[in-house]
Amino acid sequence: MEISTTLSEQPVDDARLAEILANPGFGTHFTDHMFTVEWTPEKGWHDARITPYGPLSMDPATAVLHYAQETFEGMKAYRQPDGSVATFRPEANAQRMVLSSQRLAFPELPVEDFVQAVDALVEVDQRWVPEAAGEKSLYLRPFMIATEVFLGVRPSQHVTFMVIASPAGAYFKGGIKPVSLWLTEEYTRAGRGGMGAAKTGGNYASSLVAQQEATAHGCDQVVFLDGQEGTYIEELGGMNMYFVYEDGRIVTPETGTILEGITRSSVIELAEGLGHKVEERKISIDEWREGVASGAITEIFACGTAAVITPVGSLKWDGGEADSVTGDEGGELTMRIRQALVDIQYGRAEDTHGWMHRIG
Ligand code: PLP
Ligand code: COI
Repeated sequence: MEISTTLSEQPVDDARLAEILANPGFGTHFTDHMFTVEWTPEKGWHDARITPYGPLSMDPATAVLHYAQETFEGMKAYRQPDGSVATFRPEANAQRMVLSSQRLAFPELPVEDFVQAVDALVEVDQRWVPEAAGEKSLYLRPFMIATEVFLGVRPSQHVTFMVIASPAGAYFKGGIKPVSLWLTEEYTRAGRGGMGAAKTGGNYASSLVAQQEATAHGCDQVVFLDGQEGTYIEELGGMNMYFVYEDGRIVTPETGTILEGITRSSVIELAEGLGHKVEERKISIDEWREGVASGAITEIFACGTAAVITPVGSLKWDGGEADSVTGDEGGELTMRIRQALVDIQYGRAEDTHGWMHRIG
């Protein structure tokens, strides 16, 4: 892919950048540039460009604004000990966007073009990648939107793929403390044949009211059950889940209607490398409650790009509550897997899985 570059004439100055990177928060500050490439049936993918970051001008009848034909990714670039920058498993995000694109009736962006686009943006905005201290990183948000100006309901004949980048600190304000969960029994995020496995905005729009319910009940995050039977644990609004048993087994919900997390599959490999058996299967909410009550479940955690690995604490539902199995702390294995993962991401441990992708 040929990429043209127009550099910003007003990049954020060094003093302001230092201020932002000292306390980046999540998703509020954006780098100096963005990447764009467009697609039409006649031309295919064309006009790949890096330009100064800025607002998009859109006709009010642009398809994405009405029928939500869109898909996105979330990934990170990490500062390495030698000062260089690397992303984590970018081909996996690219591949997942291909799968999401198939579900959303989009054209496919080739994996190598996706990776090249992300590399190009990270390279031009390298100074925005924070130092590793405090587990800061540069969060990358590739996304694809339907940009045809047309109100008919059919796949858009004009598609735009973009990448933007935003320096990130910890996703949760409380640091690495167990998050409390609210079990929603009213709302689901995916059904059979639905979009649960695709990373698309509609899934997040549908999770908002459930998240509000969680907040109203004093919980940090919401946990969804399967749409068909309302019995099996699916995932959180933005994370996959794991249950550690006293015999060392780890159980995680099987794929199909959940988002197949890249952190999820990395955790499975890391856990297996530490000698743990990992079962991908259905796990019911009763198994959770009973496992906590009997002591059979010794640790619970959740994982995702933005949140890394986060211990799960108490679970609340309409009419009851189960206490945190690890009190105010993360479990021992949770924290060990977490450390193993971030050590690879920040280049402090050998990348034996070949997960890191060096930029430049
Ligand atoms: N599940 C949902 C609904 C998510 O939004 C995310 C975050 O991206 C995940 C799981 C974890 O996926 P990943 O590890 O690829 O970030
Ligand atoms: C991510 O972890 O990348 C996510 O997409 C979760 C959330 C920010 C949507």
